[in-house]
Amino acid sequence: MAQWKAHHRRICKAYNRYNISSEYQALSVNEKVDAVLLSQVLIQLYPNDQFDLTPSTDGDPLAATFSDLLESSAQVDPPPLCRTSKSAAVPRDTIRKIFSRFGNNNFILHSHLNTYAHGVYPMASRFFNHSCTPNCVAKYIIAPQQVVKMELVALHNIAAGDELTIPYLDPALPYETRQDALQSNYGFQCACQLCIFQGRIQPIPPLPSTLPETSHLWDRLRAFVDSMGDSQDNPLVFAISEELYPFLNDTCLPDLSEQFTRSSHEGEFDIAILTGKRLLALYRMIYPRNFPQIGMHALELAKTAWNAVVTMEHKADLSVVQSFADEARASVLIASRVLNNFGIEGDEGGPLEEIRILQGLLSEERALP
Ligand SMILES: *[C@@H]1O[C@H](CO)[C@@H](O)[C@H](O)[C@H]1NC(C)=O
Ligand SMILES: *[C@@H]1O[C@H](CO)[C@@H](O)[C@H](O)[C@H]1NC(C)=O
Ligand SMILES: *[C@@H]1O[C@H](CO)[C@@H](O)[C@H](O)[C@H]1NC(C)=O
Repeated sequence: MAQWKAHHRRICKAYNRYNISSEYQALSVNEKVDAVLLSQVLIQLYPNDQFDLTPSTDGDPLAATFSDLLESSAQVDPPPLCRTSKSAAVPRDTIRKIFSRFGNNNFILHSHLNTYAHGVYPMASRFFNHSCTPNCVAKYIIAPQQVVKMELVALHNIAAGDELTIPYLDPALPYETRQDALQSNYGFQCACQLCIFQGRIQPIPPLPSTLPETSHLWDRLRAFVDSMGDSQDNPLVFAISEELYPFLNDTCLPDLSEQFTRSSHEGEFDIAILTGKRLLALYRMIYPRNFPQIGMHALELAKTAWNAVVTMEHKADLSVVQSFADEARASVLIASRVLNNFGIEGDEGGPLEEIRILQGLLSEERALP
């Protein structure tokens, strides 16, 4: 996006032709984003017909840092690009070299966890290694007329001298999926504590097939998570007993997440709140403390519980309605703690605003007879 602004005029005409071309249309969504970004990087790096990768003497920090980045080991052909008259002259071999650094180093920009673009942040690529148990996360500050800025948020207190790490992918993805993606996209095997732990306990049995047994295990998980408030274990998964291992089977999280989304959209409040609470326990077990996904899900759950209050207010027992309201309060508290640590991302009407509104509604609800 930075490049987009600076080189808007140069790329714009070519872009209109490019984005209706059949070779561009044939790309997947991700490939399209990468192709556009690579096109922009080329223009930024080679505005003056200098096509070698040595840092330019005029000290463009982007170019200098970029040329220093690690190349990917995988030989992947660059996508079809949007070329201006200048960048059309960049030799194929150079493009391939840039692309090989690029795949390794590009960041997925998101706001409130919705992905909207890919970006290259060469400094961040150099300074921050990946971990599936990171102590930091990246956020992207959007402001009108400005370059999207990356900021790092510490998830908790970090001892002096500790390495700052960020997740290059979602740590709640299954162990093997993470390993494969890190290997193919970044060329390394992850040896973080979480990967070591999950690698050690493979294969992981699935959840039991009978309902009472599964419910019992979920209760155990929730009790475990609630009891670990001040624990030094971070994430809490490092302290689970063997009976809870089935929650780490690949099928568990996607199934539950799907159930929660469906039931909450369909207004099946009992199921939505039950599955939402289970999912929250799972997230609190697997993610590091204060990881933003925990807060975003807690907010979803709080909103669902509030919808239940509003819908049931005149139809159900007061005690039922009260229990939905209590659920909303408990969840919004978690959301508030986590997302206030994460902070604003610069755009309006984000989750912090929703939390404020919900807390206002819930305090009025308490005042009802
Ligand atoms: C091409 O780009 C224009 C302007 O950015 C956009 O409005 C349009 O939807 C794009 N068309 C396609 C086919 O992607
Ligand atoms: C990132 O990891 C590599 C390989 O383990 C290491 O050499 C490097 O120092 C680390 N970078 C930072 C900024 O700690
Ligand atoms: C999850 O359970 C299924 C069914 O038993 C099994 O096939 C699969 O290997 C398990 N996954 C892991 C990661 O152990």
